[in-house]
Parts: sequence; C-alpha cells; structure tokens
Amino acid sequence: MSPCTLLLALAWCGAALVAAEENVFIKSKYSAPPLITSSTLHWLKKSMGERSEAAVVGAEEIVPGDNTNGDDEENLNEVLQRNVYVCRARHNGEWLAGVLRSGHPACHVVLMGRVFHYNDYEVLDNEDKAARLSWERWDRFSAIPVGAVAVGDTAYIARRKVEVPSDGRRVLGYTHLLGQFEHKGFQGKISVVDKNDKAAEFYDGELLVETEPERYELAITSFNTKREKVNRQPRVLGTTHLRNGGPAGVVNVDSMVAYDAPYSLYYGQGRAILKGLPTTIRVPDSKQTVEIKWGIAESAEKKDVHRVEAHLEPGTAVNVTLVGNHTDTETPYTGKLVAVYPDGTTRARTIGGSKREVAILDVHPEFSPVFWLHNDSLVPTTTTTTTTTTTTTTTSTTSTSTTSTTTEAATTPPPHTKKPKKTLESDKSENSSMMSDDGNGTPQREAVISESSAGAVAVVLHALLLPALLLAALRIA
Ligand SMILES: *[C@@H]1O[C@H](CO)[C@@H](O)[C@H](O)[C@H]1NC(C)=O
Ligand SMILES: *[C@@H]1O[C@H](CO)[C@@H](O)[C@H](O)[C@H]1NC(C)=O
Ligand SMILES: *[C@@H]1O[C@H](CO)[C@@H](O)[C@H](O)[C@H]1NC(C)=O
Ligand SMILES: *[C@@H]1O[C@H](CO)[C@@H](O)[C@H](O)[C@H]1NC(C)=O
Repeated sequence: MSPCTLLLALAWCGAALVAAEENVFIKSKYSAPPLITSSTLHWLKKSMGERSEAAVVGAEEIVPGDNTNGDDEENLNEVLQRNVYVCRARHNGEWLAGVLRSGHPACHVVLMGRVFHYNDYEVLDNEDKAARLSWERWDRFSAIPVGAVAVGDTAYIARRKVEVPSDGRRVLGYTHLLGQFEHKGFQGKISVVDKNDKAAEFYDGELLVETEPERYELAITSFNTKREKVNRQPRVLGTTHLRNGGPAGVVNVDSMVAYDAPYSLYYGQGRAILKGLPTTIRVPDSKQTVEIKWGIAESAEKKDVHRVEAHLEPGTAVNVTLVGNHTDTETPYTGKLVAVYPDGTTRARTIGGSKREVAILDVHPEFSPVFWLHNDSLVPTTTTTTTTTTTTTTTSTTSTSTTSTTTEAATTPPPHTKKPKKTLESDKSENSSMMSDDGNGTPQREAVISESSAGAVAVVLHALLLPALLLAALRIA
C-alpha cells in the first residue's frame, strides 16, 4: 500500500471520529470565502444543562451565596460567581447564539426581541484550550474583525458588558450579556439576553475572536518505542559484479551501487492543530531540528550510493547484490506543542501523536561465491576472502510530493579491472591462475595501497573518481 493511500485512510478515520461534532466557522481575512473552518473550535451537541469540560465561558453570573437571604441585594454578605457559557440553538432553521447558565437546563437565545429556551443545543468547545480566544470591541464604525466566530451563516457571537456601580458594590446578575451580532444592510446590532431573561439590543459591544497561530514548535519529549509498528519489505536495490582480471596478486576491487531511496516523514495531524502551518520539530538527544508543514507528509525522491568492495584473487570475480528493507515505521510520541502567534505571543500544550517514517534501511551487499573468470567454476572458499565497507552518500533530494517510487535501482557498470604491477605476491603468482594468498587468508587493503605501483594507484583513483562521477551524473539528472 502506498503511503498516500494510508494517509487517506487515516484522514477518513479522523473525519468519522469527529462526526458527532460540528465545525465552527470564523471570519477569514479574504472576502471569498468570507468564512473558514476553525482548526480548533467545535460545536458539541448537548442537552438539559450539560456542557463539555472545555466549553467557552462567555461571562460570569453573580448569584447570592448559600448563607444569603434571598435576592435582597442590599444585604448581600456573600455572593458566588458562576460561569456562563456560549451556546447556540436552532430556531426555525436558523442558528442563534445564546446563554447557557450553570445549573440551568436550557440555552436561551434571542430573535426579534423575544427570548426562546432550548433544552437541545450546542456548546462552543475549545478542546485543550487550543484556540486563542479574545473579545474584541465593536461599534457601528468598526469592521467585523478577522477571526470573529460565526454562529450560523451571517451572525457572530457577541456580548455587551454590564455597567457596574461606581461605588464598587457587587450586583447580582451577569457581568456580560451574551448573544449575537448581526449585520443587516448598513446597520449592525448586538442582540442579547438580559438578567431578567428579556431581549435587549445594543449598537456597541464585543465580538468573540479566534486568533490563529502563524507557526508551531514541537519539542518531542519521548518516543514510545514499545508501541512502535514497523513494516519491513526486502528490496533488491541493485546488482554489480567485481572482478580481478589481472594476473597480479590480490587486489581490492570496489564499485559504487546507486539506488533510489524514497523517503517520507509525517508527524500526524492531531486534534485542534492547524494543517499546513510551518512547524519546527525537535527530537530528544538531537541538536538538529526538522522543518515540516504540519499535517502534510514530506516526501523526497532521494538517491543514495553504496560502496561495495572485495579482495579478489587474480582471475576471479564475485557477483554483488545490494539489498535493503523498505521500512515503514510508525512511532507514537508525546511532546510539547507551542503555537506562535503573529504578535509574538505563544501558547504551549502537551500533545500525543504518531510519527511515520518511510525509508530504505538495512542496506548491505550480499556476495555470491567467488568464481573463476575463465571457466565460471567456484573458487574453493578456504582460499579467498571478501570484505565490505559501507559508505553511503546522499546525493540528491527533492521535497513535498506525496508520491513514492519503488523502482529497481540502477546499477553501476561493472568495475574495470586494473593491471596491477609486480608485487611481492604477484612475483610468486604471476601467470599462475591459482590463488596467491599469503597464508593467513586475510589479505589487507593496506598491502595493496602500499605498493607504489601504477595498478594500486589505479585502484585508489577508481575508488575516488567513481563516486565523484556518480555525484556529477546524478546532479545532472
Ligand atoms: C529486513 O528485515 C528483516 C526483519 O523483518 C530482517 O530479517 C532482514 O535481515 C532485513 N533485510 C536486510 C536486507 O537487512
Ligand atoms: C554471476 O552472475 C552471472 C550473470 O548474472 C550469472 O550467470 C552467474 O551464475 C553468477 N555467478 C554466481 C556464482 O552467482
Ligand atoms: C577452473 O579453473 C580453476 C583454476 O584454473 C581450476 O582449479 C578448476 O578446476 C577449473 N574448474 C573446472 C570445472 O574446470
Ligand atoms: C606468463 O608466462 C608467459 C610464459 O610462461 C610469459 O610469456 C608471459 O609474459 C607471462 N604473462 C605475464 C602477464 O607476465
């Protein structure tokens, strides 16, 4: 399955999970579309005085304390302050914003100077306090602020401050009257429910505004490797063949195998996080940071090269297959997500997510038995040794496309064999197609280099030049 299909499946699952709640729309900075979906707020269906933990508080209500005698405002020796929540209810097919008081079963809304009570309603929910909300002043000379939270298609959540007596006395009732703002023609007005549960209208007040962050910083505190899911699929990345056609002694023959190494990284979408926002990610025990766009898989069509190497007797060769695992790793993590707002302020919260990384891993060469070039029969194993060094070089990257390819890797042309000059071994073994092992079975690479022969130089040059040529070729491609 392609990473893309999986991502689509995840997105679909996410949509199914949030079906019990409704999107909240906020005023965009563009005229079209005038409203955009909030990444953080939701309307949650509730009834009979229920509300969610994270319901948005629109005002407070001052009520008599337990030891106070009724509503006698002159003799209040104790008062309680209770939250009043933002709710909305559908009246004749139209959403109206209103008041949900603590301990009361209904959402009270206003239309055309009348108050209506609904026991089935929706509360405005700010899960994880992820949304940065504020009340911005509005009067008939101001425009509707960007980020104003809409109730339905045309109205916005609004409130009006209740004047307090200048002597500082506490009065019973709301600190603010909640309702909605509507713009009809040239005239805008705020309709609210007052402390006597009657409708009231104002031509100034405050609108509820959500400010969206401009970027995130995610500091991952831990990866849960116990719950990590890894899917490995073996791949043949390329093949090559190493040969020592010369009559001289043991030579170290190497070759570069280039292969496609598709890579993708995804840190998950997560609830109440704005998709597409630039995000800097820090992982534990690493000074490096990763820059991503939140919620979007970053993919790269990388090309890597791997050097394979073998010590070969004269007249022998070996086939090399470069193998690796196409590895898809999903690791749950917890971290601190910091939202950075245009004015420079920040808000932090702890989130859990899942990091998904697709890469070619476990890259290593597999060697065939060594065989004689002239008759293809196998060389007895006791007489040869092969070794490998693993040098991998990233040669090119591209970013942010969601396609990935799994094509067979290109192979480098078989390395040409050198014409090594006289060496201690070759003196003995010249013209002899038999092995010239110096007895311990592990010829050293240094031995080849230390010979100041043209052949050895050629080997070294070959080792140095080929990667450079490959790099150049890949860059052109
Ligand atoms: C690929 O992964 C498997 C384990 O799933 C491992 O046994 C195998 O050796 C790996 N392949 C390579 C080329 O390392
Ligand atoms: C080496 O590769 C050639 C060509 O692919 C094949 O014919 C030969 O059998 C291989 N030899 C060994 C020992 O694997
Ligand atoms: C191939 O050549 C090697 C060395 O010349 C020799 O030892 C071996 O017996 C030969 N194998 C066959 C099948 O002829
Ligand atoms: C191999 O030996 C023959 C004679 O035995 C000689 O003429 C020839 O030059 C030798 N080849 C090499 C590469 O030294």
